[in-house]
Amino acid sequence: MCGIFGYIGGRTDAGPLVIEGLKNLEYRGYDSWGIACKRNGAIIVHKDAGKISGVDSSAFAEPCSMAIAHTRWATHGNVSARNAHPHISGDGTIAVVHNGIIENYQELRAELETRGHAFQSETDTEIIPHLIEEEYRRTADFAGAVRAACRHFQGRYGLLALHADSSTLVAARTGSPLIIGVMNDGGYCIASDIPAFLEQTHTVQYLDDGEMLVTDGKSILFTDIVTGEEHPKREIPITWSPEEAQKGEYEHYMLKEIMEQKESIVRAVNQDEQQIRILADAIRNAKGTFLVGCGTAGKACMAAEYFFSVIAKHHVNFAPASEFKLYHHFLEPESLLIVVSQSGETADVLEAMHIAKSKGSNVLAITNVQGSTISREADFTLLINAGPERAVASTKALTGQMAVLMLIAYALTGKLQDGKTKLLETGAAINDMLNPRYIKRIEALAKRINQNENLYIIGKSWNYPMALESAIKIQEVSYIHAEGFAGGELKHGPIALIEDGTPCIALLGNDEVTADMLSNAIELKARGGRIIGIAPQEHSVFDEWLKVPEAGPAQPIVNIIPVQILAYYLAVTRGKDPDMPRNLAKSVTVK
Ligand code: M6R
Repeated sequence: MCGIFGYIGGRTDAGPLVIEGLKNLEYRGYDSWGIACKRNGAIIVHKDAGKISGVDSSAFAEPCSMAIAHTRWATHGNVSARNAHPHISGDGTIAVVHNGIIENYQELRAELETRGHAFQSETDTEIIPHLIEEEYRRTADFAGAVRAACRHFQGRYGLLALHADSSTLVAARTGSPLIIGVMNDGGYCIASDIPAFLEQTHTVQYLDDGEMLVTDGKSILFTDIVTGEEHPKREIPITWSPEEAQKGEYEHYMLKEIMEQKESIVRAVNQDEQQIRILADAIRNAKGTFLVGCGTAGKACMAAEYFFSVIAKHHVNFAPASEFKLYHHFLEPESLLIVVSQSGETADVLEAMHIAKSKGSNVLAITNVQGSTISREADFTLLINAGPERAVASTKALTGQMAVLMLIAYALTGKLQDGKTKLLETGAAINDMLNPRYIKRIEALAKRINQNENLYIIGKSWNYPMALESAIKIQEVSYIHAEGFAGGELKHGPIALIEDGTPCIALLGNDEVTADMLSNAIELKARGGRIIGIAPQEHSVFDEWLKVPEAGPAQPIVNIIPVQILAYYLAVTRGKDPDMPRNLAKSVTVK
């Protein structure tokens, strides 16, 4: 999704600083970019379609102490420099960058047009500086004008605004995150995501929904947008290091994060045991537990349904967060909602939380980002400690989420230590598996199958959600049409898709469903399918075998890893950039 980066303070290199900050936000997904600097009482804007990675930040080095910048992921209006942010007011004095969607912008734009405003873009954002301009004309109070403008908006926004006549930077938020980095020299960075300013500071403040801030670079004031009431804030330390958020020796974040699973699973497992028991107790005592998440996080929730059923003999319900709206009929004050989200910012997940809270239900969050909106709004949060995940394709967050959910299932049976031991053994086995020879074998396999336009994945039990997840991974980075099925469902329709040579991945463990899965693989092979088995043992039906450690209930955690590597190499060998998949964003903060 769009990225925001702003700076105000004593430094005079605000231009290069915000350009470099924007580069740190590239992983969120975008198609155009822009910057506005305040210099000598004027707002200077530069915007462009395309990538910012190759832009030389020294081109923006002319002294300036206040700048805002944006990477745009097109929603309203096509990809063009004209539609890129910042957008400016009719008189050119106000510049605004904005994440989110102003849902009533057409109505507001029509009203502004009747009052003589002319617009340059097709975006919803452009109405914002125009409305601020009108309010400012009435009061000559910039912060007051932003506050008054915000009262007109319906929808979601995180915005930064500059005025040529004001020495302050103003930010406001309803729905789209903005985080303040408190610089050591007293200035402030304001960004949509923490990794943007990790090289500058490790001290943050959070702007909450319904709040705005005004800063002159020396001090900062947080207030309620509607009432104007002051909201004092704490400064919070961040533990992530800038190095963790870099690619290091790897060509892509995706491969780096896949390889990091050697350690990240162990970090997820080495949780505070008391916290895991609190979550287990909450599930035990709840009158119905729902797990919700989106995309990959949703597949972790689905796998957890099996963990709770098989390990703890306890029923929990999964619903994709985007489908949760109508489940509110089942929610009671004693119900429990567990939300799973890597970023902690996903709009659909937040909406599910709000529905549950409106029913008086408790909300527990499993997330990777300390201080994220979801973690701040939940009644209780458990961090998976995967470290920054920057690739759009979620990898290490998934295995961390599944590890934590499996631990909770064990804790529910009073056997938390058994679960810990099992998962730590699995972590060690993954460490052995992720050796250069193994990776090379998968790369070679990717080269053999990368010209196929269709690919199917089957799994049963906890490997079924992993079949669905495999499809997401392959689709999003390689653009191959991939679909996951429950092995037993093949004969009810999907098997009609199999042609001679169609690659079919079968995800197996060594358990009570293995025989069924082998039968399903044989059915595929009989129709011409080329069977790639991901399994602890070789079976005669496999045309290719990727060996994985035997891991019992942790099998889905192990089995998904070779598919992640395969997806990565399918992308790379097809000439696609796995870190910048088309049409996608890392954190989906719009509905
Ligand atoms: O940050 P979240 O875990 O809430 O994100 C949920 C999905 O948007 C995310 O998992 C998405 O499906 C990934 N791109 C998949 O790799």
